[in-house]
Amino acid sequence: MSLHRLTSVTIGVPNLDASRQFYRDFGLAEGTPGRFSSRFGGEQLILVEQAERGVLEVGIGCHDTDDIGRTASALSRAGVESRVSDSRIQIHEPVTGLAVRIEVAPRIEPDVRAAHVENSHGARPRLNRRAPGIVEPEQTRPRKLGHIVIGTPDREITQDFFTRILGFQLSDQRGDHMAFMRCSTDHHNIAVSQAPRHFLHHTSWEVDDIDQVAQGAGDLLAVDPSRHLWGLGRHFYGSNYFWYFRDPAGHYAEYMSDLDEITDDEAWAIQTAGQRGGAKAWGPPMPRHFGAPWELDKIAPLPGMARL
Ligand SMILES: [Fe+2]
Repeated sequence: MSLHRLTSVTIGVPNLDASRQFYRDFGLAEGTPGRFSSRFGGEQLILVEQAERGVLEVGIGCHDTDDIGRTASALSRAGVESRVSDSRIQIHEPVTGLAVRIEVAPRIEPDVRAAHVENSHGARPRLNRRAPGIVEPEQTRPRKLGHIVIGTPDREITQDFFTRILGFQLSDQRGDHMAFMRCSTDHHNIAVSQAPRHFLHHTSWEVDDIDQVAQGAGDLLAVDPSRHLWGLGRHFYGSNYFWYFRDPAGHYAEYMSDLDEITDDEAWAIQTAGQRGGAKAWGPPMPRHFGAPWELDKIAPLPGMARL
């Protein structure tokens, strides 16, 4: 596969200063005002002030200039209009108009820190010492941008754009409603959801482990409990632990860990219907408007939340 990860996401927000504060508290490092880095992914979140909230651009990394050439050829064969330079391709997803930038970017290598181990039913790998999560508590700092989820008025066409034209692999599909696609070994890097209009549902940020998910949540909610949206839980699609928050613009942001990893396309069994039910394997009930956040705007905009 030519592509190997998300590089960045650019989001429009109507309240830049409040949104900047949120993502600083979230654990991203702000360099230039409005531009945020994860621990291992470089500059991965760019906030831009504009009247209405929304996603403006997503960046996708490829290995080298040969990948740029191959992708440009595939786009040309598919009749997709693009702007191509030596190290970058600019295109737009046809249904939503979402700008997609494909660029040469370094891989994110697994870090060499010793993995945290947990005592469980079948194994007791941690003996005679306390859990790392209590011995080494530190502010949660996301490792990388893991995925984004967008709404589209035509899931089939948007899904086709990412899979057939750009080369993403389908990991799971929740009926006609939602598709989870990957351009790396992560279970999903982009998911698309059928919706009345284009919108950004959430950005998801990988953290080390469940301790970091819950510790980050505690720190965010200590500042403002109304940031809480949904968590702690474990998703069915992707298996990851999750905790979702609402940023001041109304975008959702997720801490996640322990996502399914797919290294062998043949070995992975794609699920195309929700035999196991809804979005969660366990966790609190899904908030009423989680799957349809635009309804929140029709009913009662939250303080500082722009209407879609
Ligand atoms: Fe997610």
